[in-house]
Amino acid sequence: MSIEKPVIRPRRLRRTPVLRRMVAETAVRPANLVLPAFVREGIDEPVPISTMPGVVQHSRESLRKAAAEAAAAGVGGIMLFGVPTTKDAVGSGAIDPEGILNLAIADVVAEVGDSLTVMSDLCLDEFTDHGHCGVLAEDGTVDNDATLELYAQMGLAHAEAGAHMVGPSGMMDGQVAVIRDALDGAGHTDVSILAYSAKYASAFYGPFREAVDSSLKGDRRTYQQDPANALEGVREALLDVAEGADIVMVKPGLPYLDVLQRVRESVDVPVAAYNISGEYAMLEAAAANGWVDREPAILETLTAFKRAGADVILTYWATEAAGWMRG
Ligand code: PBG
Repeated sequence: MSIEKPVIRPRRLRRTPVLRRMVAETAVRPANLVLPAFVREGIDEPVPISTMPGVVQHSRESLRKAAAEAAAAGVGGIMLFGVPTTKDAVGSGAIDPEGILNLAIADVVAEVGDSLTVMSDLCLDEFTDHGHCGVLAEDGTVDNDATLELYAQMGLAHAEAGAHMVGPSGMMDGQVAVIRDALDGAGHTDVSILAYSAKYASAFYGPFREAVDSSLKGDRRTYQQDPANALEGVREALLDVAEGADIVMVKPGLPYLDVLQRVRESVDVPVAAYNISGEYAMLEAAAANGWVDREPAILETLTAFKRAGADVILTYWATEAAGWMRG
């Protein structure tokens, strides 16, 4: 039996590091990364989040420092989440100009100016005592249209605090249109919208619930998407673009790379992916056990988002990974 000698040899382009770099199809840059950050009302020292080793609930002061570090590392943006001390049925703290998230937006803008894109999670779940992303109707269901009015006010509060970009994440129908209209009506035509468009009802949000002291019992399946559906994710993204979204996002990240790719092929605006808390926790736990090599595993993860079509990647590793990319 004769052994065939291959004529076509793809290995030729893998011989040396410099050659591999020359033909690399994908590269993640620090400016593509966005750091999600939590700020908790009424604390002087940051509080560690046990399910997300290395991530904290910031004090107002430590948040400013984290934002300055992210900017210095060349990170593109910061996505802010507020953790208030008191919650109520309608999430009043979300709209109050003295509410923790609105104060934190102003703090960060004062600290970094335009050197970092300051984004805000626009959702009620951190502020409601029942933990849902909207207000409840008499029968206990989440009231879509009553929630929209509050989102419009929340968007205005964020814009007035100085946010460059707001990120509606509550999965209410029509949320992007209502927020765009409210912003434009108040003269905030420059404030952009990053829409959490294809957002799935995921078990991987677990650690996030600790991060924001969530009081949710039950689940979000009447408004977040069924993990079984990909076409529906594309439809949600197209609707958000039609309503005026500047960037559309797919979330979670790793289990939904197929949705990310389909959304990328279907819209003509930048696409973001959110490498969420449960994805962070899994990799950190494996690395802490010595089961995977942490730095290359993180870089491979971020590369996968880029390869699948993400222009923007929200990741808790943003500042650290940006340091590796520049170093
Ligand atoms: C909603 C929101 C959530 C996350 C970001 N925005 C939680 C949810 O929808 O249940 C999750 C982020 C993560 O898990 O890292 N405000």
